[in-house]
Amino acid sequence: MINSSELASIFEVKPQNINNLRSRYNLKDTVDTVVHSNNRRYYTPTGVRKILKKRNYQFERKNICVCNVKGGVGKTTISVNIAKKASSLGFRTLLIDCDKQGNATDQIWPSANDGDFPCLYDVIKKHVSLSDSIVEINPFLSLLPSNLKNQLLENEITNTNINKGSYFKRVLDSLDFDLIIFDTEPNLSQINLMALAYSSLNIAPIRLDKNSIDGLDLLLGFIDEQSKEWPEMNTETKVLINGFDKRMTTEAIKKIGEVRELGVSTFDTAMRIDQSFVKAQEHGEIKRGTKAYEDITDLVTELLELKPNKKIAIQ
Ligand SMILES: Nc1ncnc2c1ncn2[C@@H]1O[C@H](COP(=O)(O)OP(=O)(O)OP(=O)(O)O)[C@@H](O)[C@H]1O
Ligand SMILES: [Mg+2]
Repeated sequence: MINSSELASIFEVKPQNINNLRSRYNLKDTVDTVVHSNNRRYYTPTGVRKILKKRNYQFERKNICVCNVKGGVGKTTISVNIAKKASSLGFRTLLIDCDKQGNATDQIWPSANDGDFPCLYDVIKKHVSLSDSIVEINPFLSLLPSNLKNQLLENEITNTNINKGSYFKRVLDSLDFDLIIFDTEPNLSQINLMALAYSSLNIAPIRLDKNSIDGLDLLLGFIDEQSKEWPEMNTETKVLINGFDKRMTTEAIKKIGEVRELGVSTFDTAMRIDQSFVKAQEHGEIKRGTKAYEDITDLVTELLELKPNKKIAIQ
């Protein structure tokens, strides 16, 4: 849930105007907004969704992959927190965990632990349908979880007669989500290609303190090469700088230059270094008011084009 001032800052309106919206849009107490014991008013996902709709925001399905062949650059952190933030803003969100380590699964669905649940391997193997494998975390956030069975996934994809390029289109297009996000492993696997082929956007996180441009170069070359055989592949890759620190400004400018030379753009938002990301892995939510909280909010605002001059008419 988000409070009035956060909502006002996302929409670039004065906080008192947000409060006016409550009566204008007939928002219902306890359903669309709730007042906590600290006397502050919070907007529920249902409430934010209602406001967005009233302001003519078009909820069109977005399919997004978070992929870079470099490990440890923040793919899971980014995909999990985009999923959580977008769902808190009323986007019906599905996170697909393609990584056999199941880090995203652990963070979104802590009670999964060692439970025996279906994952992508079972879906491709046709043990179970994709929609039956989805776990509803809350009415706005769902997860296709992963576990170690996905060790067998690559082998299964190679040996099964499926149209890899259009597979996700066939099984996901009809599902009722506004946003689908794939968290991937750091490699050039078939499952990553399948996820990329379905996504219109690939978010490629890079770190400034590591040589992640090499990984990006490799990924872009590979996508290019594969798109000859995968006609469905029409993915824009956009780089997200993760682990930024003010002292690294020169380094960041240099990296952005290197990224541009590769022919891709970067997000305006960069993710700063903040231990709140690490703490949230254990405690579920990023603490309000931290750099991590601000940066994820900015990223989701940019990604989903929530600013009034973009998709929402100013009222
Ligand atoms: N901006 C940040 N500030 C502080 N810590 C971060 C930040 N981004 C990620 N981390 C931490 O870095 C570690 C690696 O991040 P994460 O697991 O998201 O990377 P990954 O790319 O998914 O790794 P893998 O390739 O193993 O899947 C995690 O402990 C995470 O909490
Ligand atoms: Mg990961």
